[in-house]
Amino acid sequence: MAKYLVQRSEPLKGEVNISGSKNAVLPIMAGTLLTDEPCELSEVPALRDVYVMCDLLSDLGFEIEKNYEENKVKVIPGKSIKTETPYEHVNKMRASFLVMGPLLARKGKAKVHMPGGCSIGARPIELHLKGFQLLGAKITEEQGYIEATTDGLVGDSIYLDFPSVGATENIMMAGSLAKGVTVIENAAQEPEIVDLANFLNRMGAKIKGAGTDTIKIEGVEKLNGCKHSIIPDRIETGTFMVAAAMTKGEVLIKNAVPDHVKPIIAKLKECGAKVDITDEGIFVNGSENPLVATDIKTLPYPGFPTDMQSQFMAMLLKTEGESNVIETVFENRYMHVGELNRMGANIKTDGNKATIRGDKGLTGAEVIATDLRGGAALVLAGLVAEGTTEIGEIYHIERGYEKFVEKFRNIGATIIRVEN
Ligand code: UD1
Repeated sequence: MAKYLVQRSEPLKGEVNISGSKNAVLPIMAGTLLTDEPCELSEVPALRDVYVMCDLLSDLGFEIEKNYEENKVKVIPGKSIKTETPYEHVNKMRASFLVMGPLLARKGKAKVHMPGGCSIGARPIELHLKGFQLLGAKITEEQGYIEATTDGLVGDSIYLDFPSVGATENIMMAGSLAKGVTVIENAAQEPEIVDLANFLNRMGAKIKGAGTDTIKIEGVEKLNGCKHSIIPDRIETGTFMVAAAMTKGEVLIKNAVPDHVKPIIAKLKECGAKVDITDEGIFVNGSENPLVATDIKTLPYPGFPTDMQSQFMAMLLKTEGESNVIETVFENRYMHVGELNRMGANIKTDGNKATIRGDKGLTGAEVIATDLRGGAALVLAGLVAEGTTEIGEIYHIERGYEKFVEKFRNIGATIIRVEN
């Protein structure tokens, strides 16, 4: 099993180039199932979740031409497409469930293993299924598999009880090939939803309102192949912004979209970091002022992203005073807290609230990445802890960050990846 060894590092300095967004590319790759023509994707991040999605599409009968060096993937439909995805894929990656909407719309049936709960919470899928049912699908559940069938989807009005990202994406893809108009109300508004809608519209779909809480999809009969470039990853952007601030560094983050990280910019400024938007990128300077405590509450976009909660918490350990974090999106997203406390942090949790007593000295320890973003938080903490932090189970981190170690080393971090 590989590990990261992280040493206390000098303030980070230099430039980082942000990769394409993991959470945008996964639904877009699922969306290629909607056409019988090839799709060419660029700015595809080379990371484990993308490899899993490539394997899944190959299993379903697609040919995949990968050029990870150049961040390109071409998806070429095969003659016959399977409609069943084995447990193996859904087990490795929950986002595999995003093939259900496209398969149902294109082939009239889809059988996908029920995604289990995962470490950050139960993560049910009833909103996806409610959407498919309203579009006219019949849903059955047997031996852990969800099967959806239809003689032809018909558009309807769907109100989501919660603005679920995955449900919005799955229903938007299914609605693209349904008869008539589908309206999703209380839709998720994340930038990744907009990127998916742009991709689908490029394929010939008629989607309006993506990025707002009401999305209108006028179904079309057929979608064509297209070329599409994936948007930059806002969570990778935020991770490096926080890293710069907490190490009192000066880092220029290139190829980032400032509008997508507004809450992170606002909260970093509140803590005393300098953040400047220039033509070249986002410049974060943590060297001028001591960082002070602040409170955050995670919310659906455009609120503070749950996927930045653990990394931001690592930074709050280096601020003066007491901070509170409230996690409202997932019910169990504090697993990294135990690991941070093993490094000398003083974090107490009570339900969905965490209280962080800042400016405690951190000491390197043997810890494990409990999930993707929690793992990133341990790397950040390791950069400011005395001695060596040894992080195990780093496959979680490598699910979602491209060239993580290399990018950190390029800006002066002392981190290496070792194979045990
Ligand atoms: C996506 C992101 C993930 C991010 C999350 C929230 C991808 C591949 N993953 O996950 O990184 O943390 O958005 O920003 O894009 N829920 C239900 N019923 C449902 C669906 C969801 O109760 O049918 C709940 C979930 O349990 C969770 C909350 O809604 O508590 C948010 O989930 P959702 O927005 O669906 O997240 P994902 O699409 O799984």
